[in-house]
Amino acid sequence: MKRSFDNIANSYARLESLMFGNSLQHAREYALSAFDVTGAQKALLLGDGDGRFACRALQDNPLLQIDSIDISPSMLHCAKTRIQTSNPKLLARYNPINANALDHEYPLSHYDIVVTQFFMDCFKSNQANQLIAQLETTIKPNGRFAYADFSIPQRRAWNFTSRFLVAILYHCFRLTTDIRARRLPTLTWPESLESETKTEFLKGLLTCENRIKR
Ligand SMILES: C[S@@+](CC[C@H](N)C(=O)[O-])C[C@H]1O[C@@H](n2cnc3c(N)ncnc32)[C@H](O)[C@@H]1O
Repeated sequence: MKRSFDNIANSYARLESLMFGNSLQHAREYALSAFDVTGAQKALLLGDGDGRFACRALQDNPLLQIDSIDISPSMLHCAKTRIQTSNPKLLARYNPINANALDHEYPLSHYDIVVTQFFMDCFKSNQANQLIAQLETTIKPNGRFAYADFSIPQRRAWNFTSRFLVAILYHCFRLTTDIRARRLPTLTWPESLESETKTEFLKGLLTCENRIKR
């Protein structure tokens, strides 16, 4: 079996719910508050996977247009099916792009909001930081970067458990997908992407942050 995110597209939501219940979905939905404050009309999603976030964002924001880049055709297919099932009219505002986010050319100052959720953890630190620098240029001034991902809490009691869980997750992803990363990247945010709001779930195992472009 060739390792690819295609392999887990159909089972992704079920596996996630078995391991974490609704927590990852709550973490995703934290980004919706950034859509509310900006009245975002053009959004770029990277590695949105099976489309649970895209579907919800389109339902909640009637003027929103989404470009969604994902390397996995099966993930994009799941997302399209989910959106179509929810309301076929939503598909007119959804543009799936099958591409590697690391190679993609991003238009300058084009999007009101860029969203990455459980996506930066697919990359090594240098790749993730290069990508963030590129994405910064595609966000309009006063636009937002909404981010959610796994993190290791400082609190001692949870530090070990979180490291253990994250190590297991990477192991499972490496068995089934072509993910290269072995640990969470250390992200360096450009000064122009100022932290606006932040929260955590599962005692800090999940971090969500909305950043504003100054
Ligand atoms: C761990 S899943 C996260 C999916 C979803 N964002 C979520 O909240 O669960 C990572 C997603 O990123 C996509 N992906 C991984 N590497 C990528 C790359 N280099 N370019 C574009 N998409 C990529 C995978 O196909 C997958 O859909």
